[in-house]
Amino acid sequence: MTTTTSTLDRQAFTGTMARVPAPVTVTTTVDGTGRQWGFTASAFTSLSLEPPLILVCVDRAASVHCAFASAEHFLVNVLAKHQADVAARFAARGADRFTAGDTEPCELGLPGLPDAALRVACRVHEVLDGGDHSILVGHVEATYTSARTPLLYCDRTFDYPARLDRVEHG
Ligand SMILES: Cc1cc2nc3c(=O)[nH]c(=O)nc-3n(C[C@H](O)[C@H](O)[C@H](O)COP(=O)(O)O)c2cc1C
Repeated sequence: MTTTTSTLDRQAFTGTMARVPAPVTVTTTVDGTGRQWGFTASAFTSLSLEPPLILVCVDRAASVHCAFASAEHFLVNVLAKHQADVAARFAARGADRFTAGDTEPCELGLPGLPDAALRVACRVHEVLDGGDHSILVGHVEATYTSARTPLLYCDRTFDYPARLDRVEHG
């Protein structure tokens, strides 16, 4: 028997989850041909301390899904408060997200944003089923952190937490 979620349930679900403040990442990888892939992802969280694991969720329907589901490594760039335009570019359909030239090889040689608030470089530990998304579980191999204030996404708006705003610019 097929059970479908009602329109009301879907709206309640998406409307409720939209109110949960989330970090904004640009998650990148490089495939076997050397092609760079990246997408904006807010579904990022810490998972385990021993071993050190994080997770990022990628939509099965996204153009980047195949690249990430078969990747060996990926890099999570947690954006800083001044990088909402970068988030919009890496979420835009059909655009070449790397032509702006603001990435450079960072941890594990993966495409990174030097001005990110922090970066987490991972070896793929496992790719799990997450409904219409795949859950990329990453074993953390290297990290970078800065004093830059992280960008947040809440109520479908980019924002940043004033309490954490320790840096005058960026
Ligand atoms: C703030 C924000 C957060 C997002 N979070 C995710 C996410 O966690 N997982 C995901 O698969 N897509 C997420 N997206 C959507 C993708 O960035 C984007 O829609 C997708 O890469 C574009 O589809 P395409 O790759 O097929 O062109 C997010 C978009 C925005 C603007």
